[in-house]
Amino acid sequence: MFYLSGGRKPIAKSAKGIYITADNGKSYMDAASGAIVCQLGHSHPKIIDAIKDQVSELQFSYRTQFENQPANDLANMIVEKTNPELDRVFFVSGGSEAVESAMKLIRQYHFVNGDETRSVFISRVPSYHGCTMGVLALTGYEPLNRPFVPMIKLYPKVKSPTQYRIPAGMTQEEYALVCANEVETVILETGAENVAGFVAEPIGGASTGAEVPHDVYFPRVQEICKRYNVPIILDEVMTGVGRTGKMFGYNHWNIDADVICLAKGLGAGYYPVAAIVAKDKFVRPVMKSGGFMHGFTYAGNPFGCAVGCAVLKTIDEEDLVENSRIQGKYLIAEIKTLAENYDWIGDVRGRGLLMAIEYANKKTKKPFPDEWQIGEAVAQVAYELGLIIYPKNSHDSSTGDHTLVTPPLIITREESDKLLDLLTQTFESYDKVIKNK
Ligand SMILES: Cc1ncc(COP(=O)(O)O)c(C=O)c1O
Repeated sequence: MFYLSGGRKPIAKSAKGIYITADNGKSYMDAASGAIVCQLGHSHPKIIDAIKDQVSELQFSYRTQFENQPANDLANMIVEKTNPELDRVFFVSGGSEAVESAMKLIRQYHFVNGDETRSVFISRVPSYHGCTMGVLALTGYEPLNRPFVPMIKLYPKVKSPTQYRIPAGMTQEEYALVCANEVETVILETGAENVAGFVAEPIGGASTGAEVPHDVYFPRVQEICKRYNVPIILDEVMTGVGRTGKMFGYNHWNIDADVICLAKGLGAGYYPVAAIVAKDKFVRPVMKSGGFMHGFTYAGNPFGCAVGCAVLKTIDEEDLVENSRIQGKYLIAEIKTLAENYDWIGDVRGRGLLMAIEYANKKTKKPFPDEWQIGEAVAQVAYELGLIIYPKNSHDSSTGDHTLVTPPLIITREESDKLLDLLTQTFESYDKVIKNK
């Protein structure tokens, strides 16, 4: 195995609810949901039962040979939850595949529609859309792209709308409009006839550290994209399936997306299942022209889709989107209060259970030196205390490092209080480290 970059880690042995037990006998609170995946925590009995039922009946059938009931059911369940016009589902296995599939669907639509020049996607920086070659061209995070730049066509980027570091003399609303208007500037520079689509995360994930755009941002972006016939692809890989206290991130602003990409929480860590959901107006011409020139072997298999159905059903039955909103509101408020005690915590933000803590000088907002790797360092202190949070280093010193706090949607108020207790211990402990720097 060579994918572990750092030192060795304990071996995970078993998990239940929001806790993972390792071979060192220690129990860790999973306040990262793995990689912001485990919406239902671990070993949820309803999902285990659904897995047992499906595995004893049908594990795999291939889409060119058979339809399968779990895939049909899951597609219907997803479509019932999305905006009415988002009514065509295409299954894949992961987030990068989903975003890349959305790009290819929209590109093929332009191609068959006689708009062959429309091949440039505009995305944002910072952003993360995955790590395959196609989506790397969208991803706005330089260290990930650097070795591969000669091999990919990097697309033009606009600024991600931050509410934390805004230019002096501007209000948050004014700056949000500056960021939104940049979409128009780049469309015009590129030539609208060359623009295939605009791609964005509704609320930032690990890239920006849960940056929530100002309310004026998406309505303006939408107005601009409509003016130039530019389809909007929303990367809901992290924000989808209840993570932000609404079923989808776009529900916070009622954005009229043309395609949304779902992954992570849809399989909730029980199986890799992902999807794009598109408006029929993009799918129909592509199907008429001979079909979507794209597809993955494991896509839409009955086993994965049965897991997806059980996940969505459980989220509804247990009212977990609402729980995400309630616990998130409580946790953000409490973490904000806690952060007042530490001058090295610059910002606490997020929506629902997608939250982030940004490390920067409280007064000046100046980030700490790259070599401190403060996001990683704080997460390591937490890990030793039995708390898993998700670190991200900015690497370019233009923004502060941060850690995401993203517990499973099943977290209770009592567990939220325990999380806050562990976070307090973490901050107290790191405070001593940073004071000696
Ligand atoms: C917003 C976003 N898009 C895409 C991806 C890529 O998903 P995957 O790692 O499943 O390929 C991620 C993964 O973290 C993500 O957060």
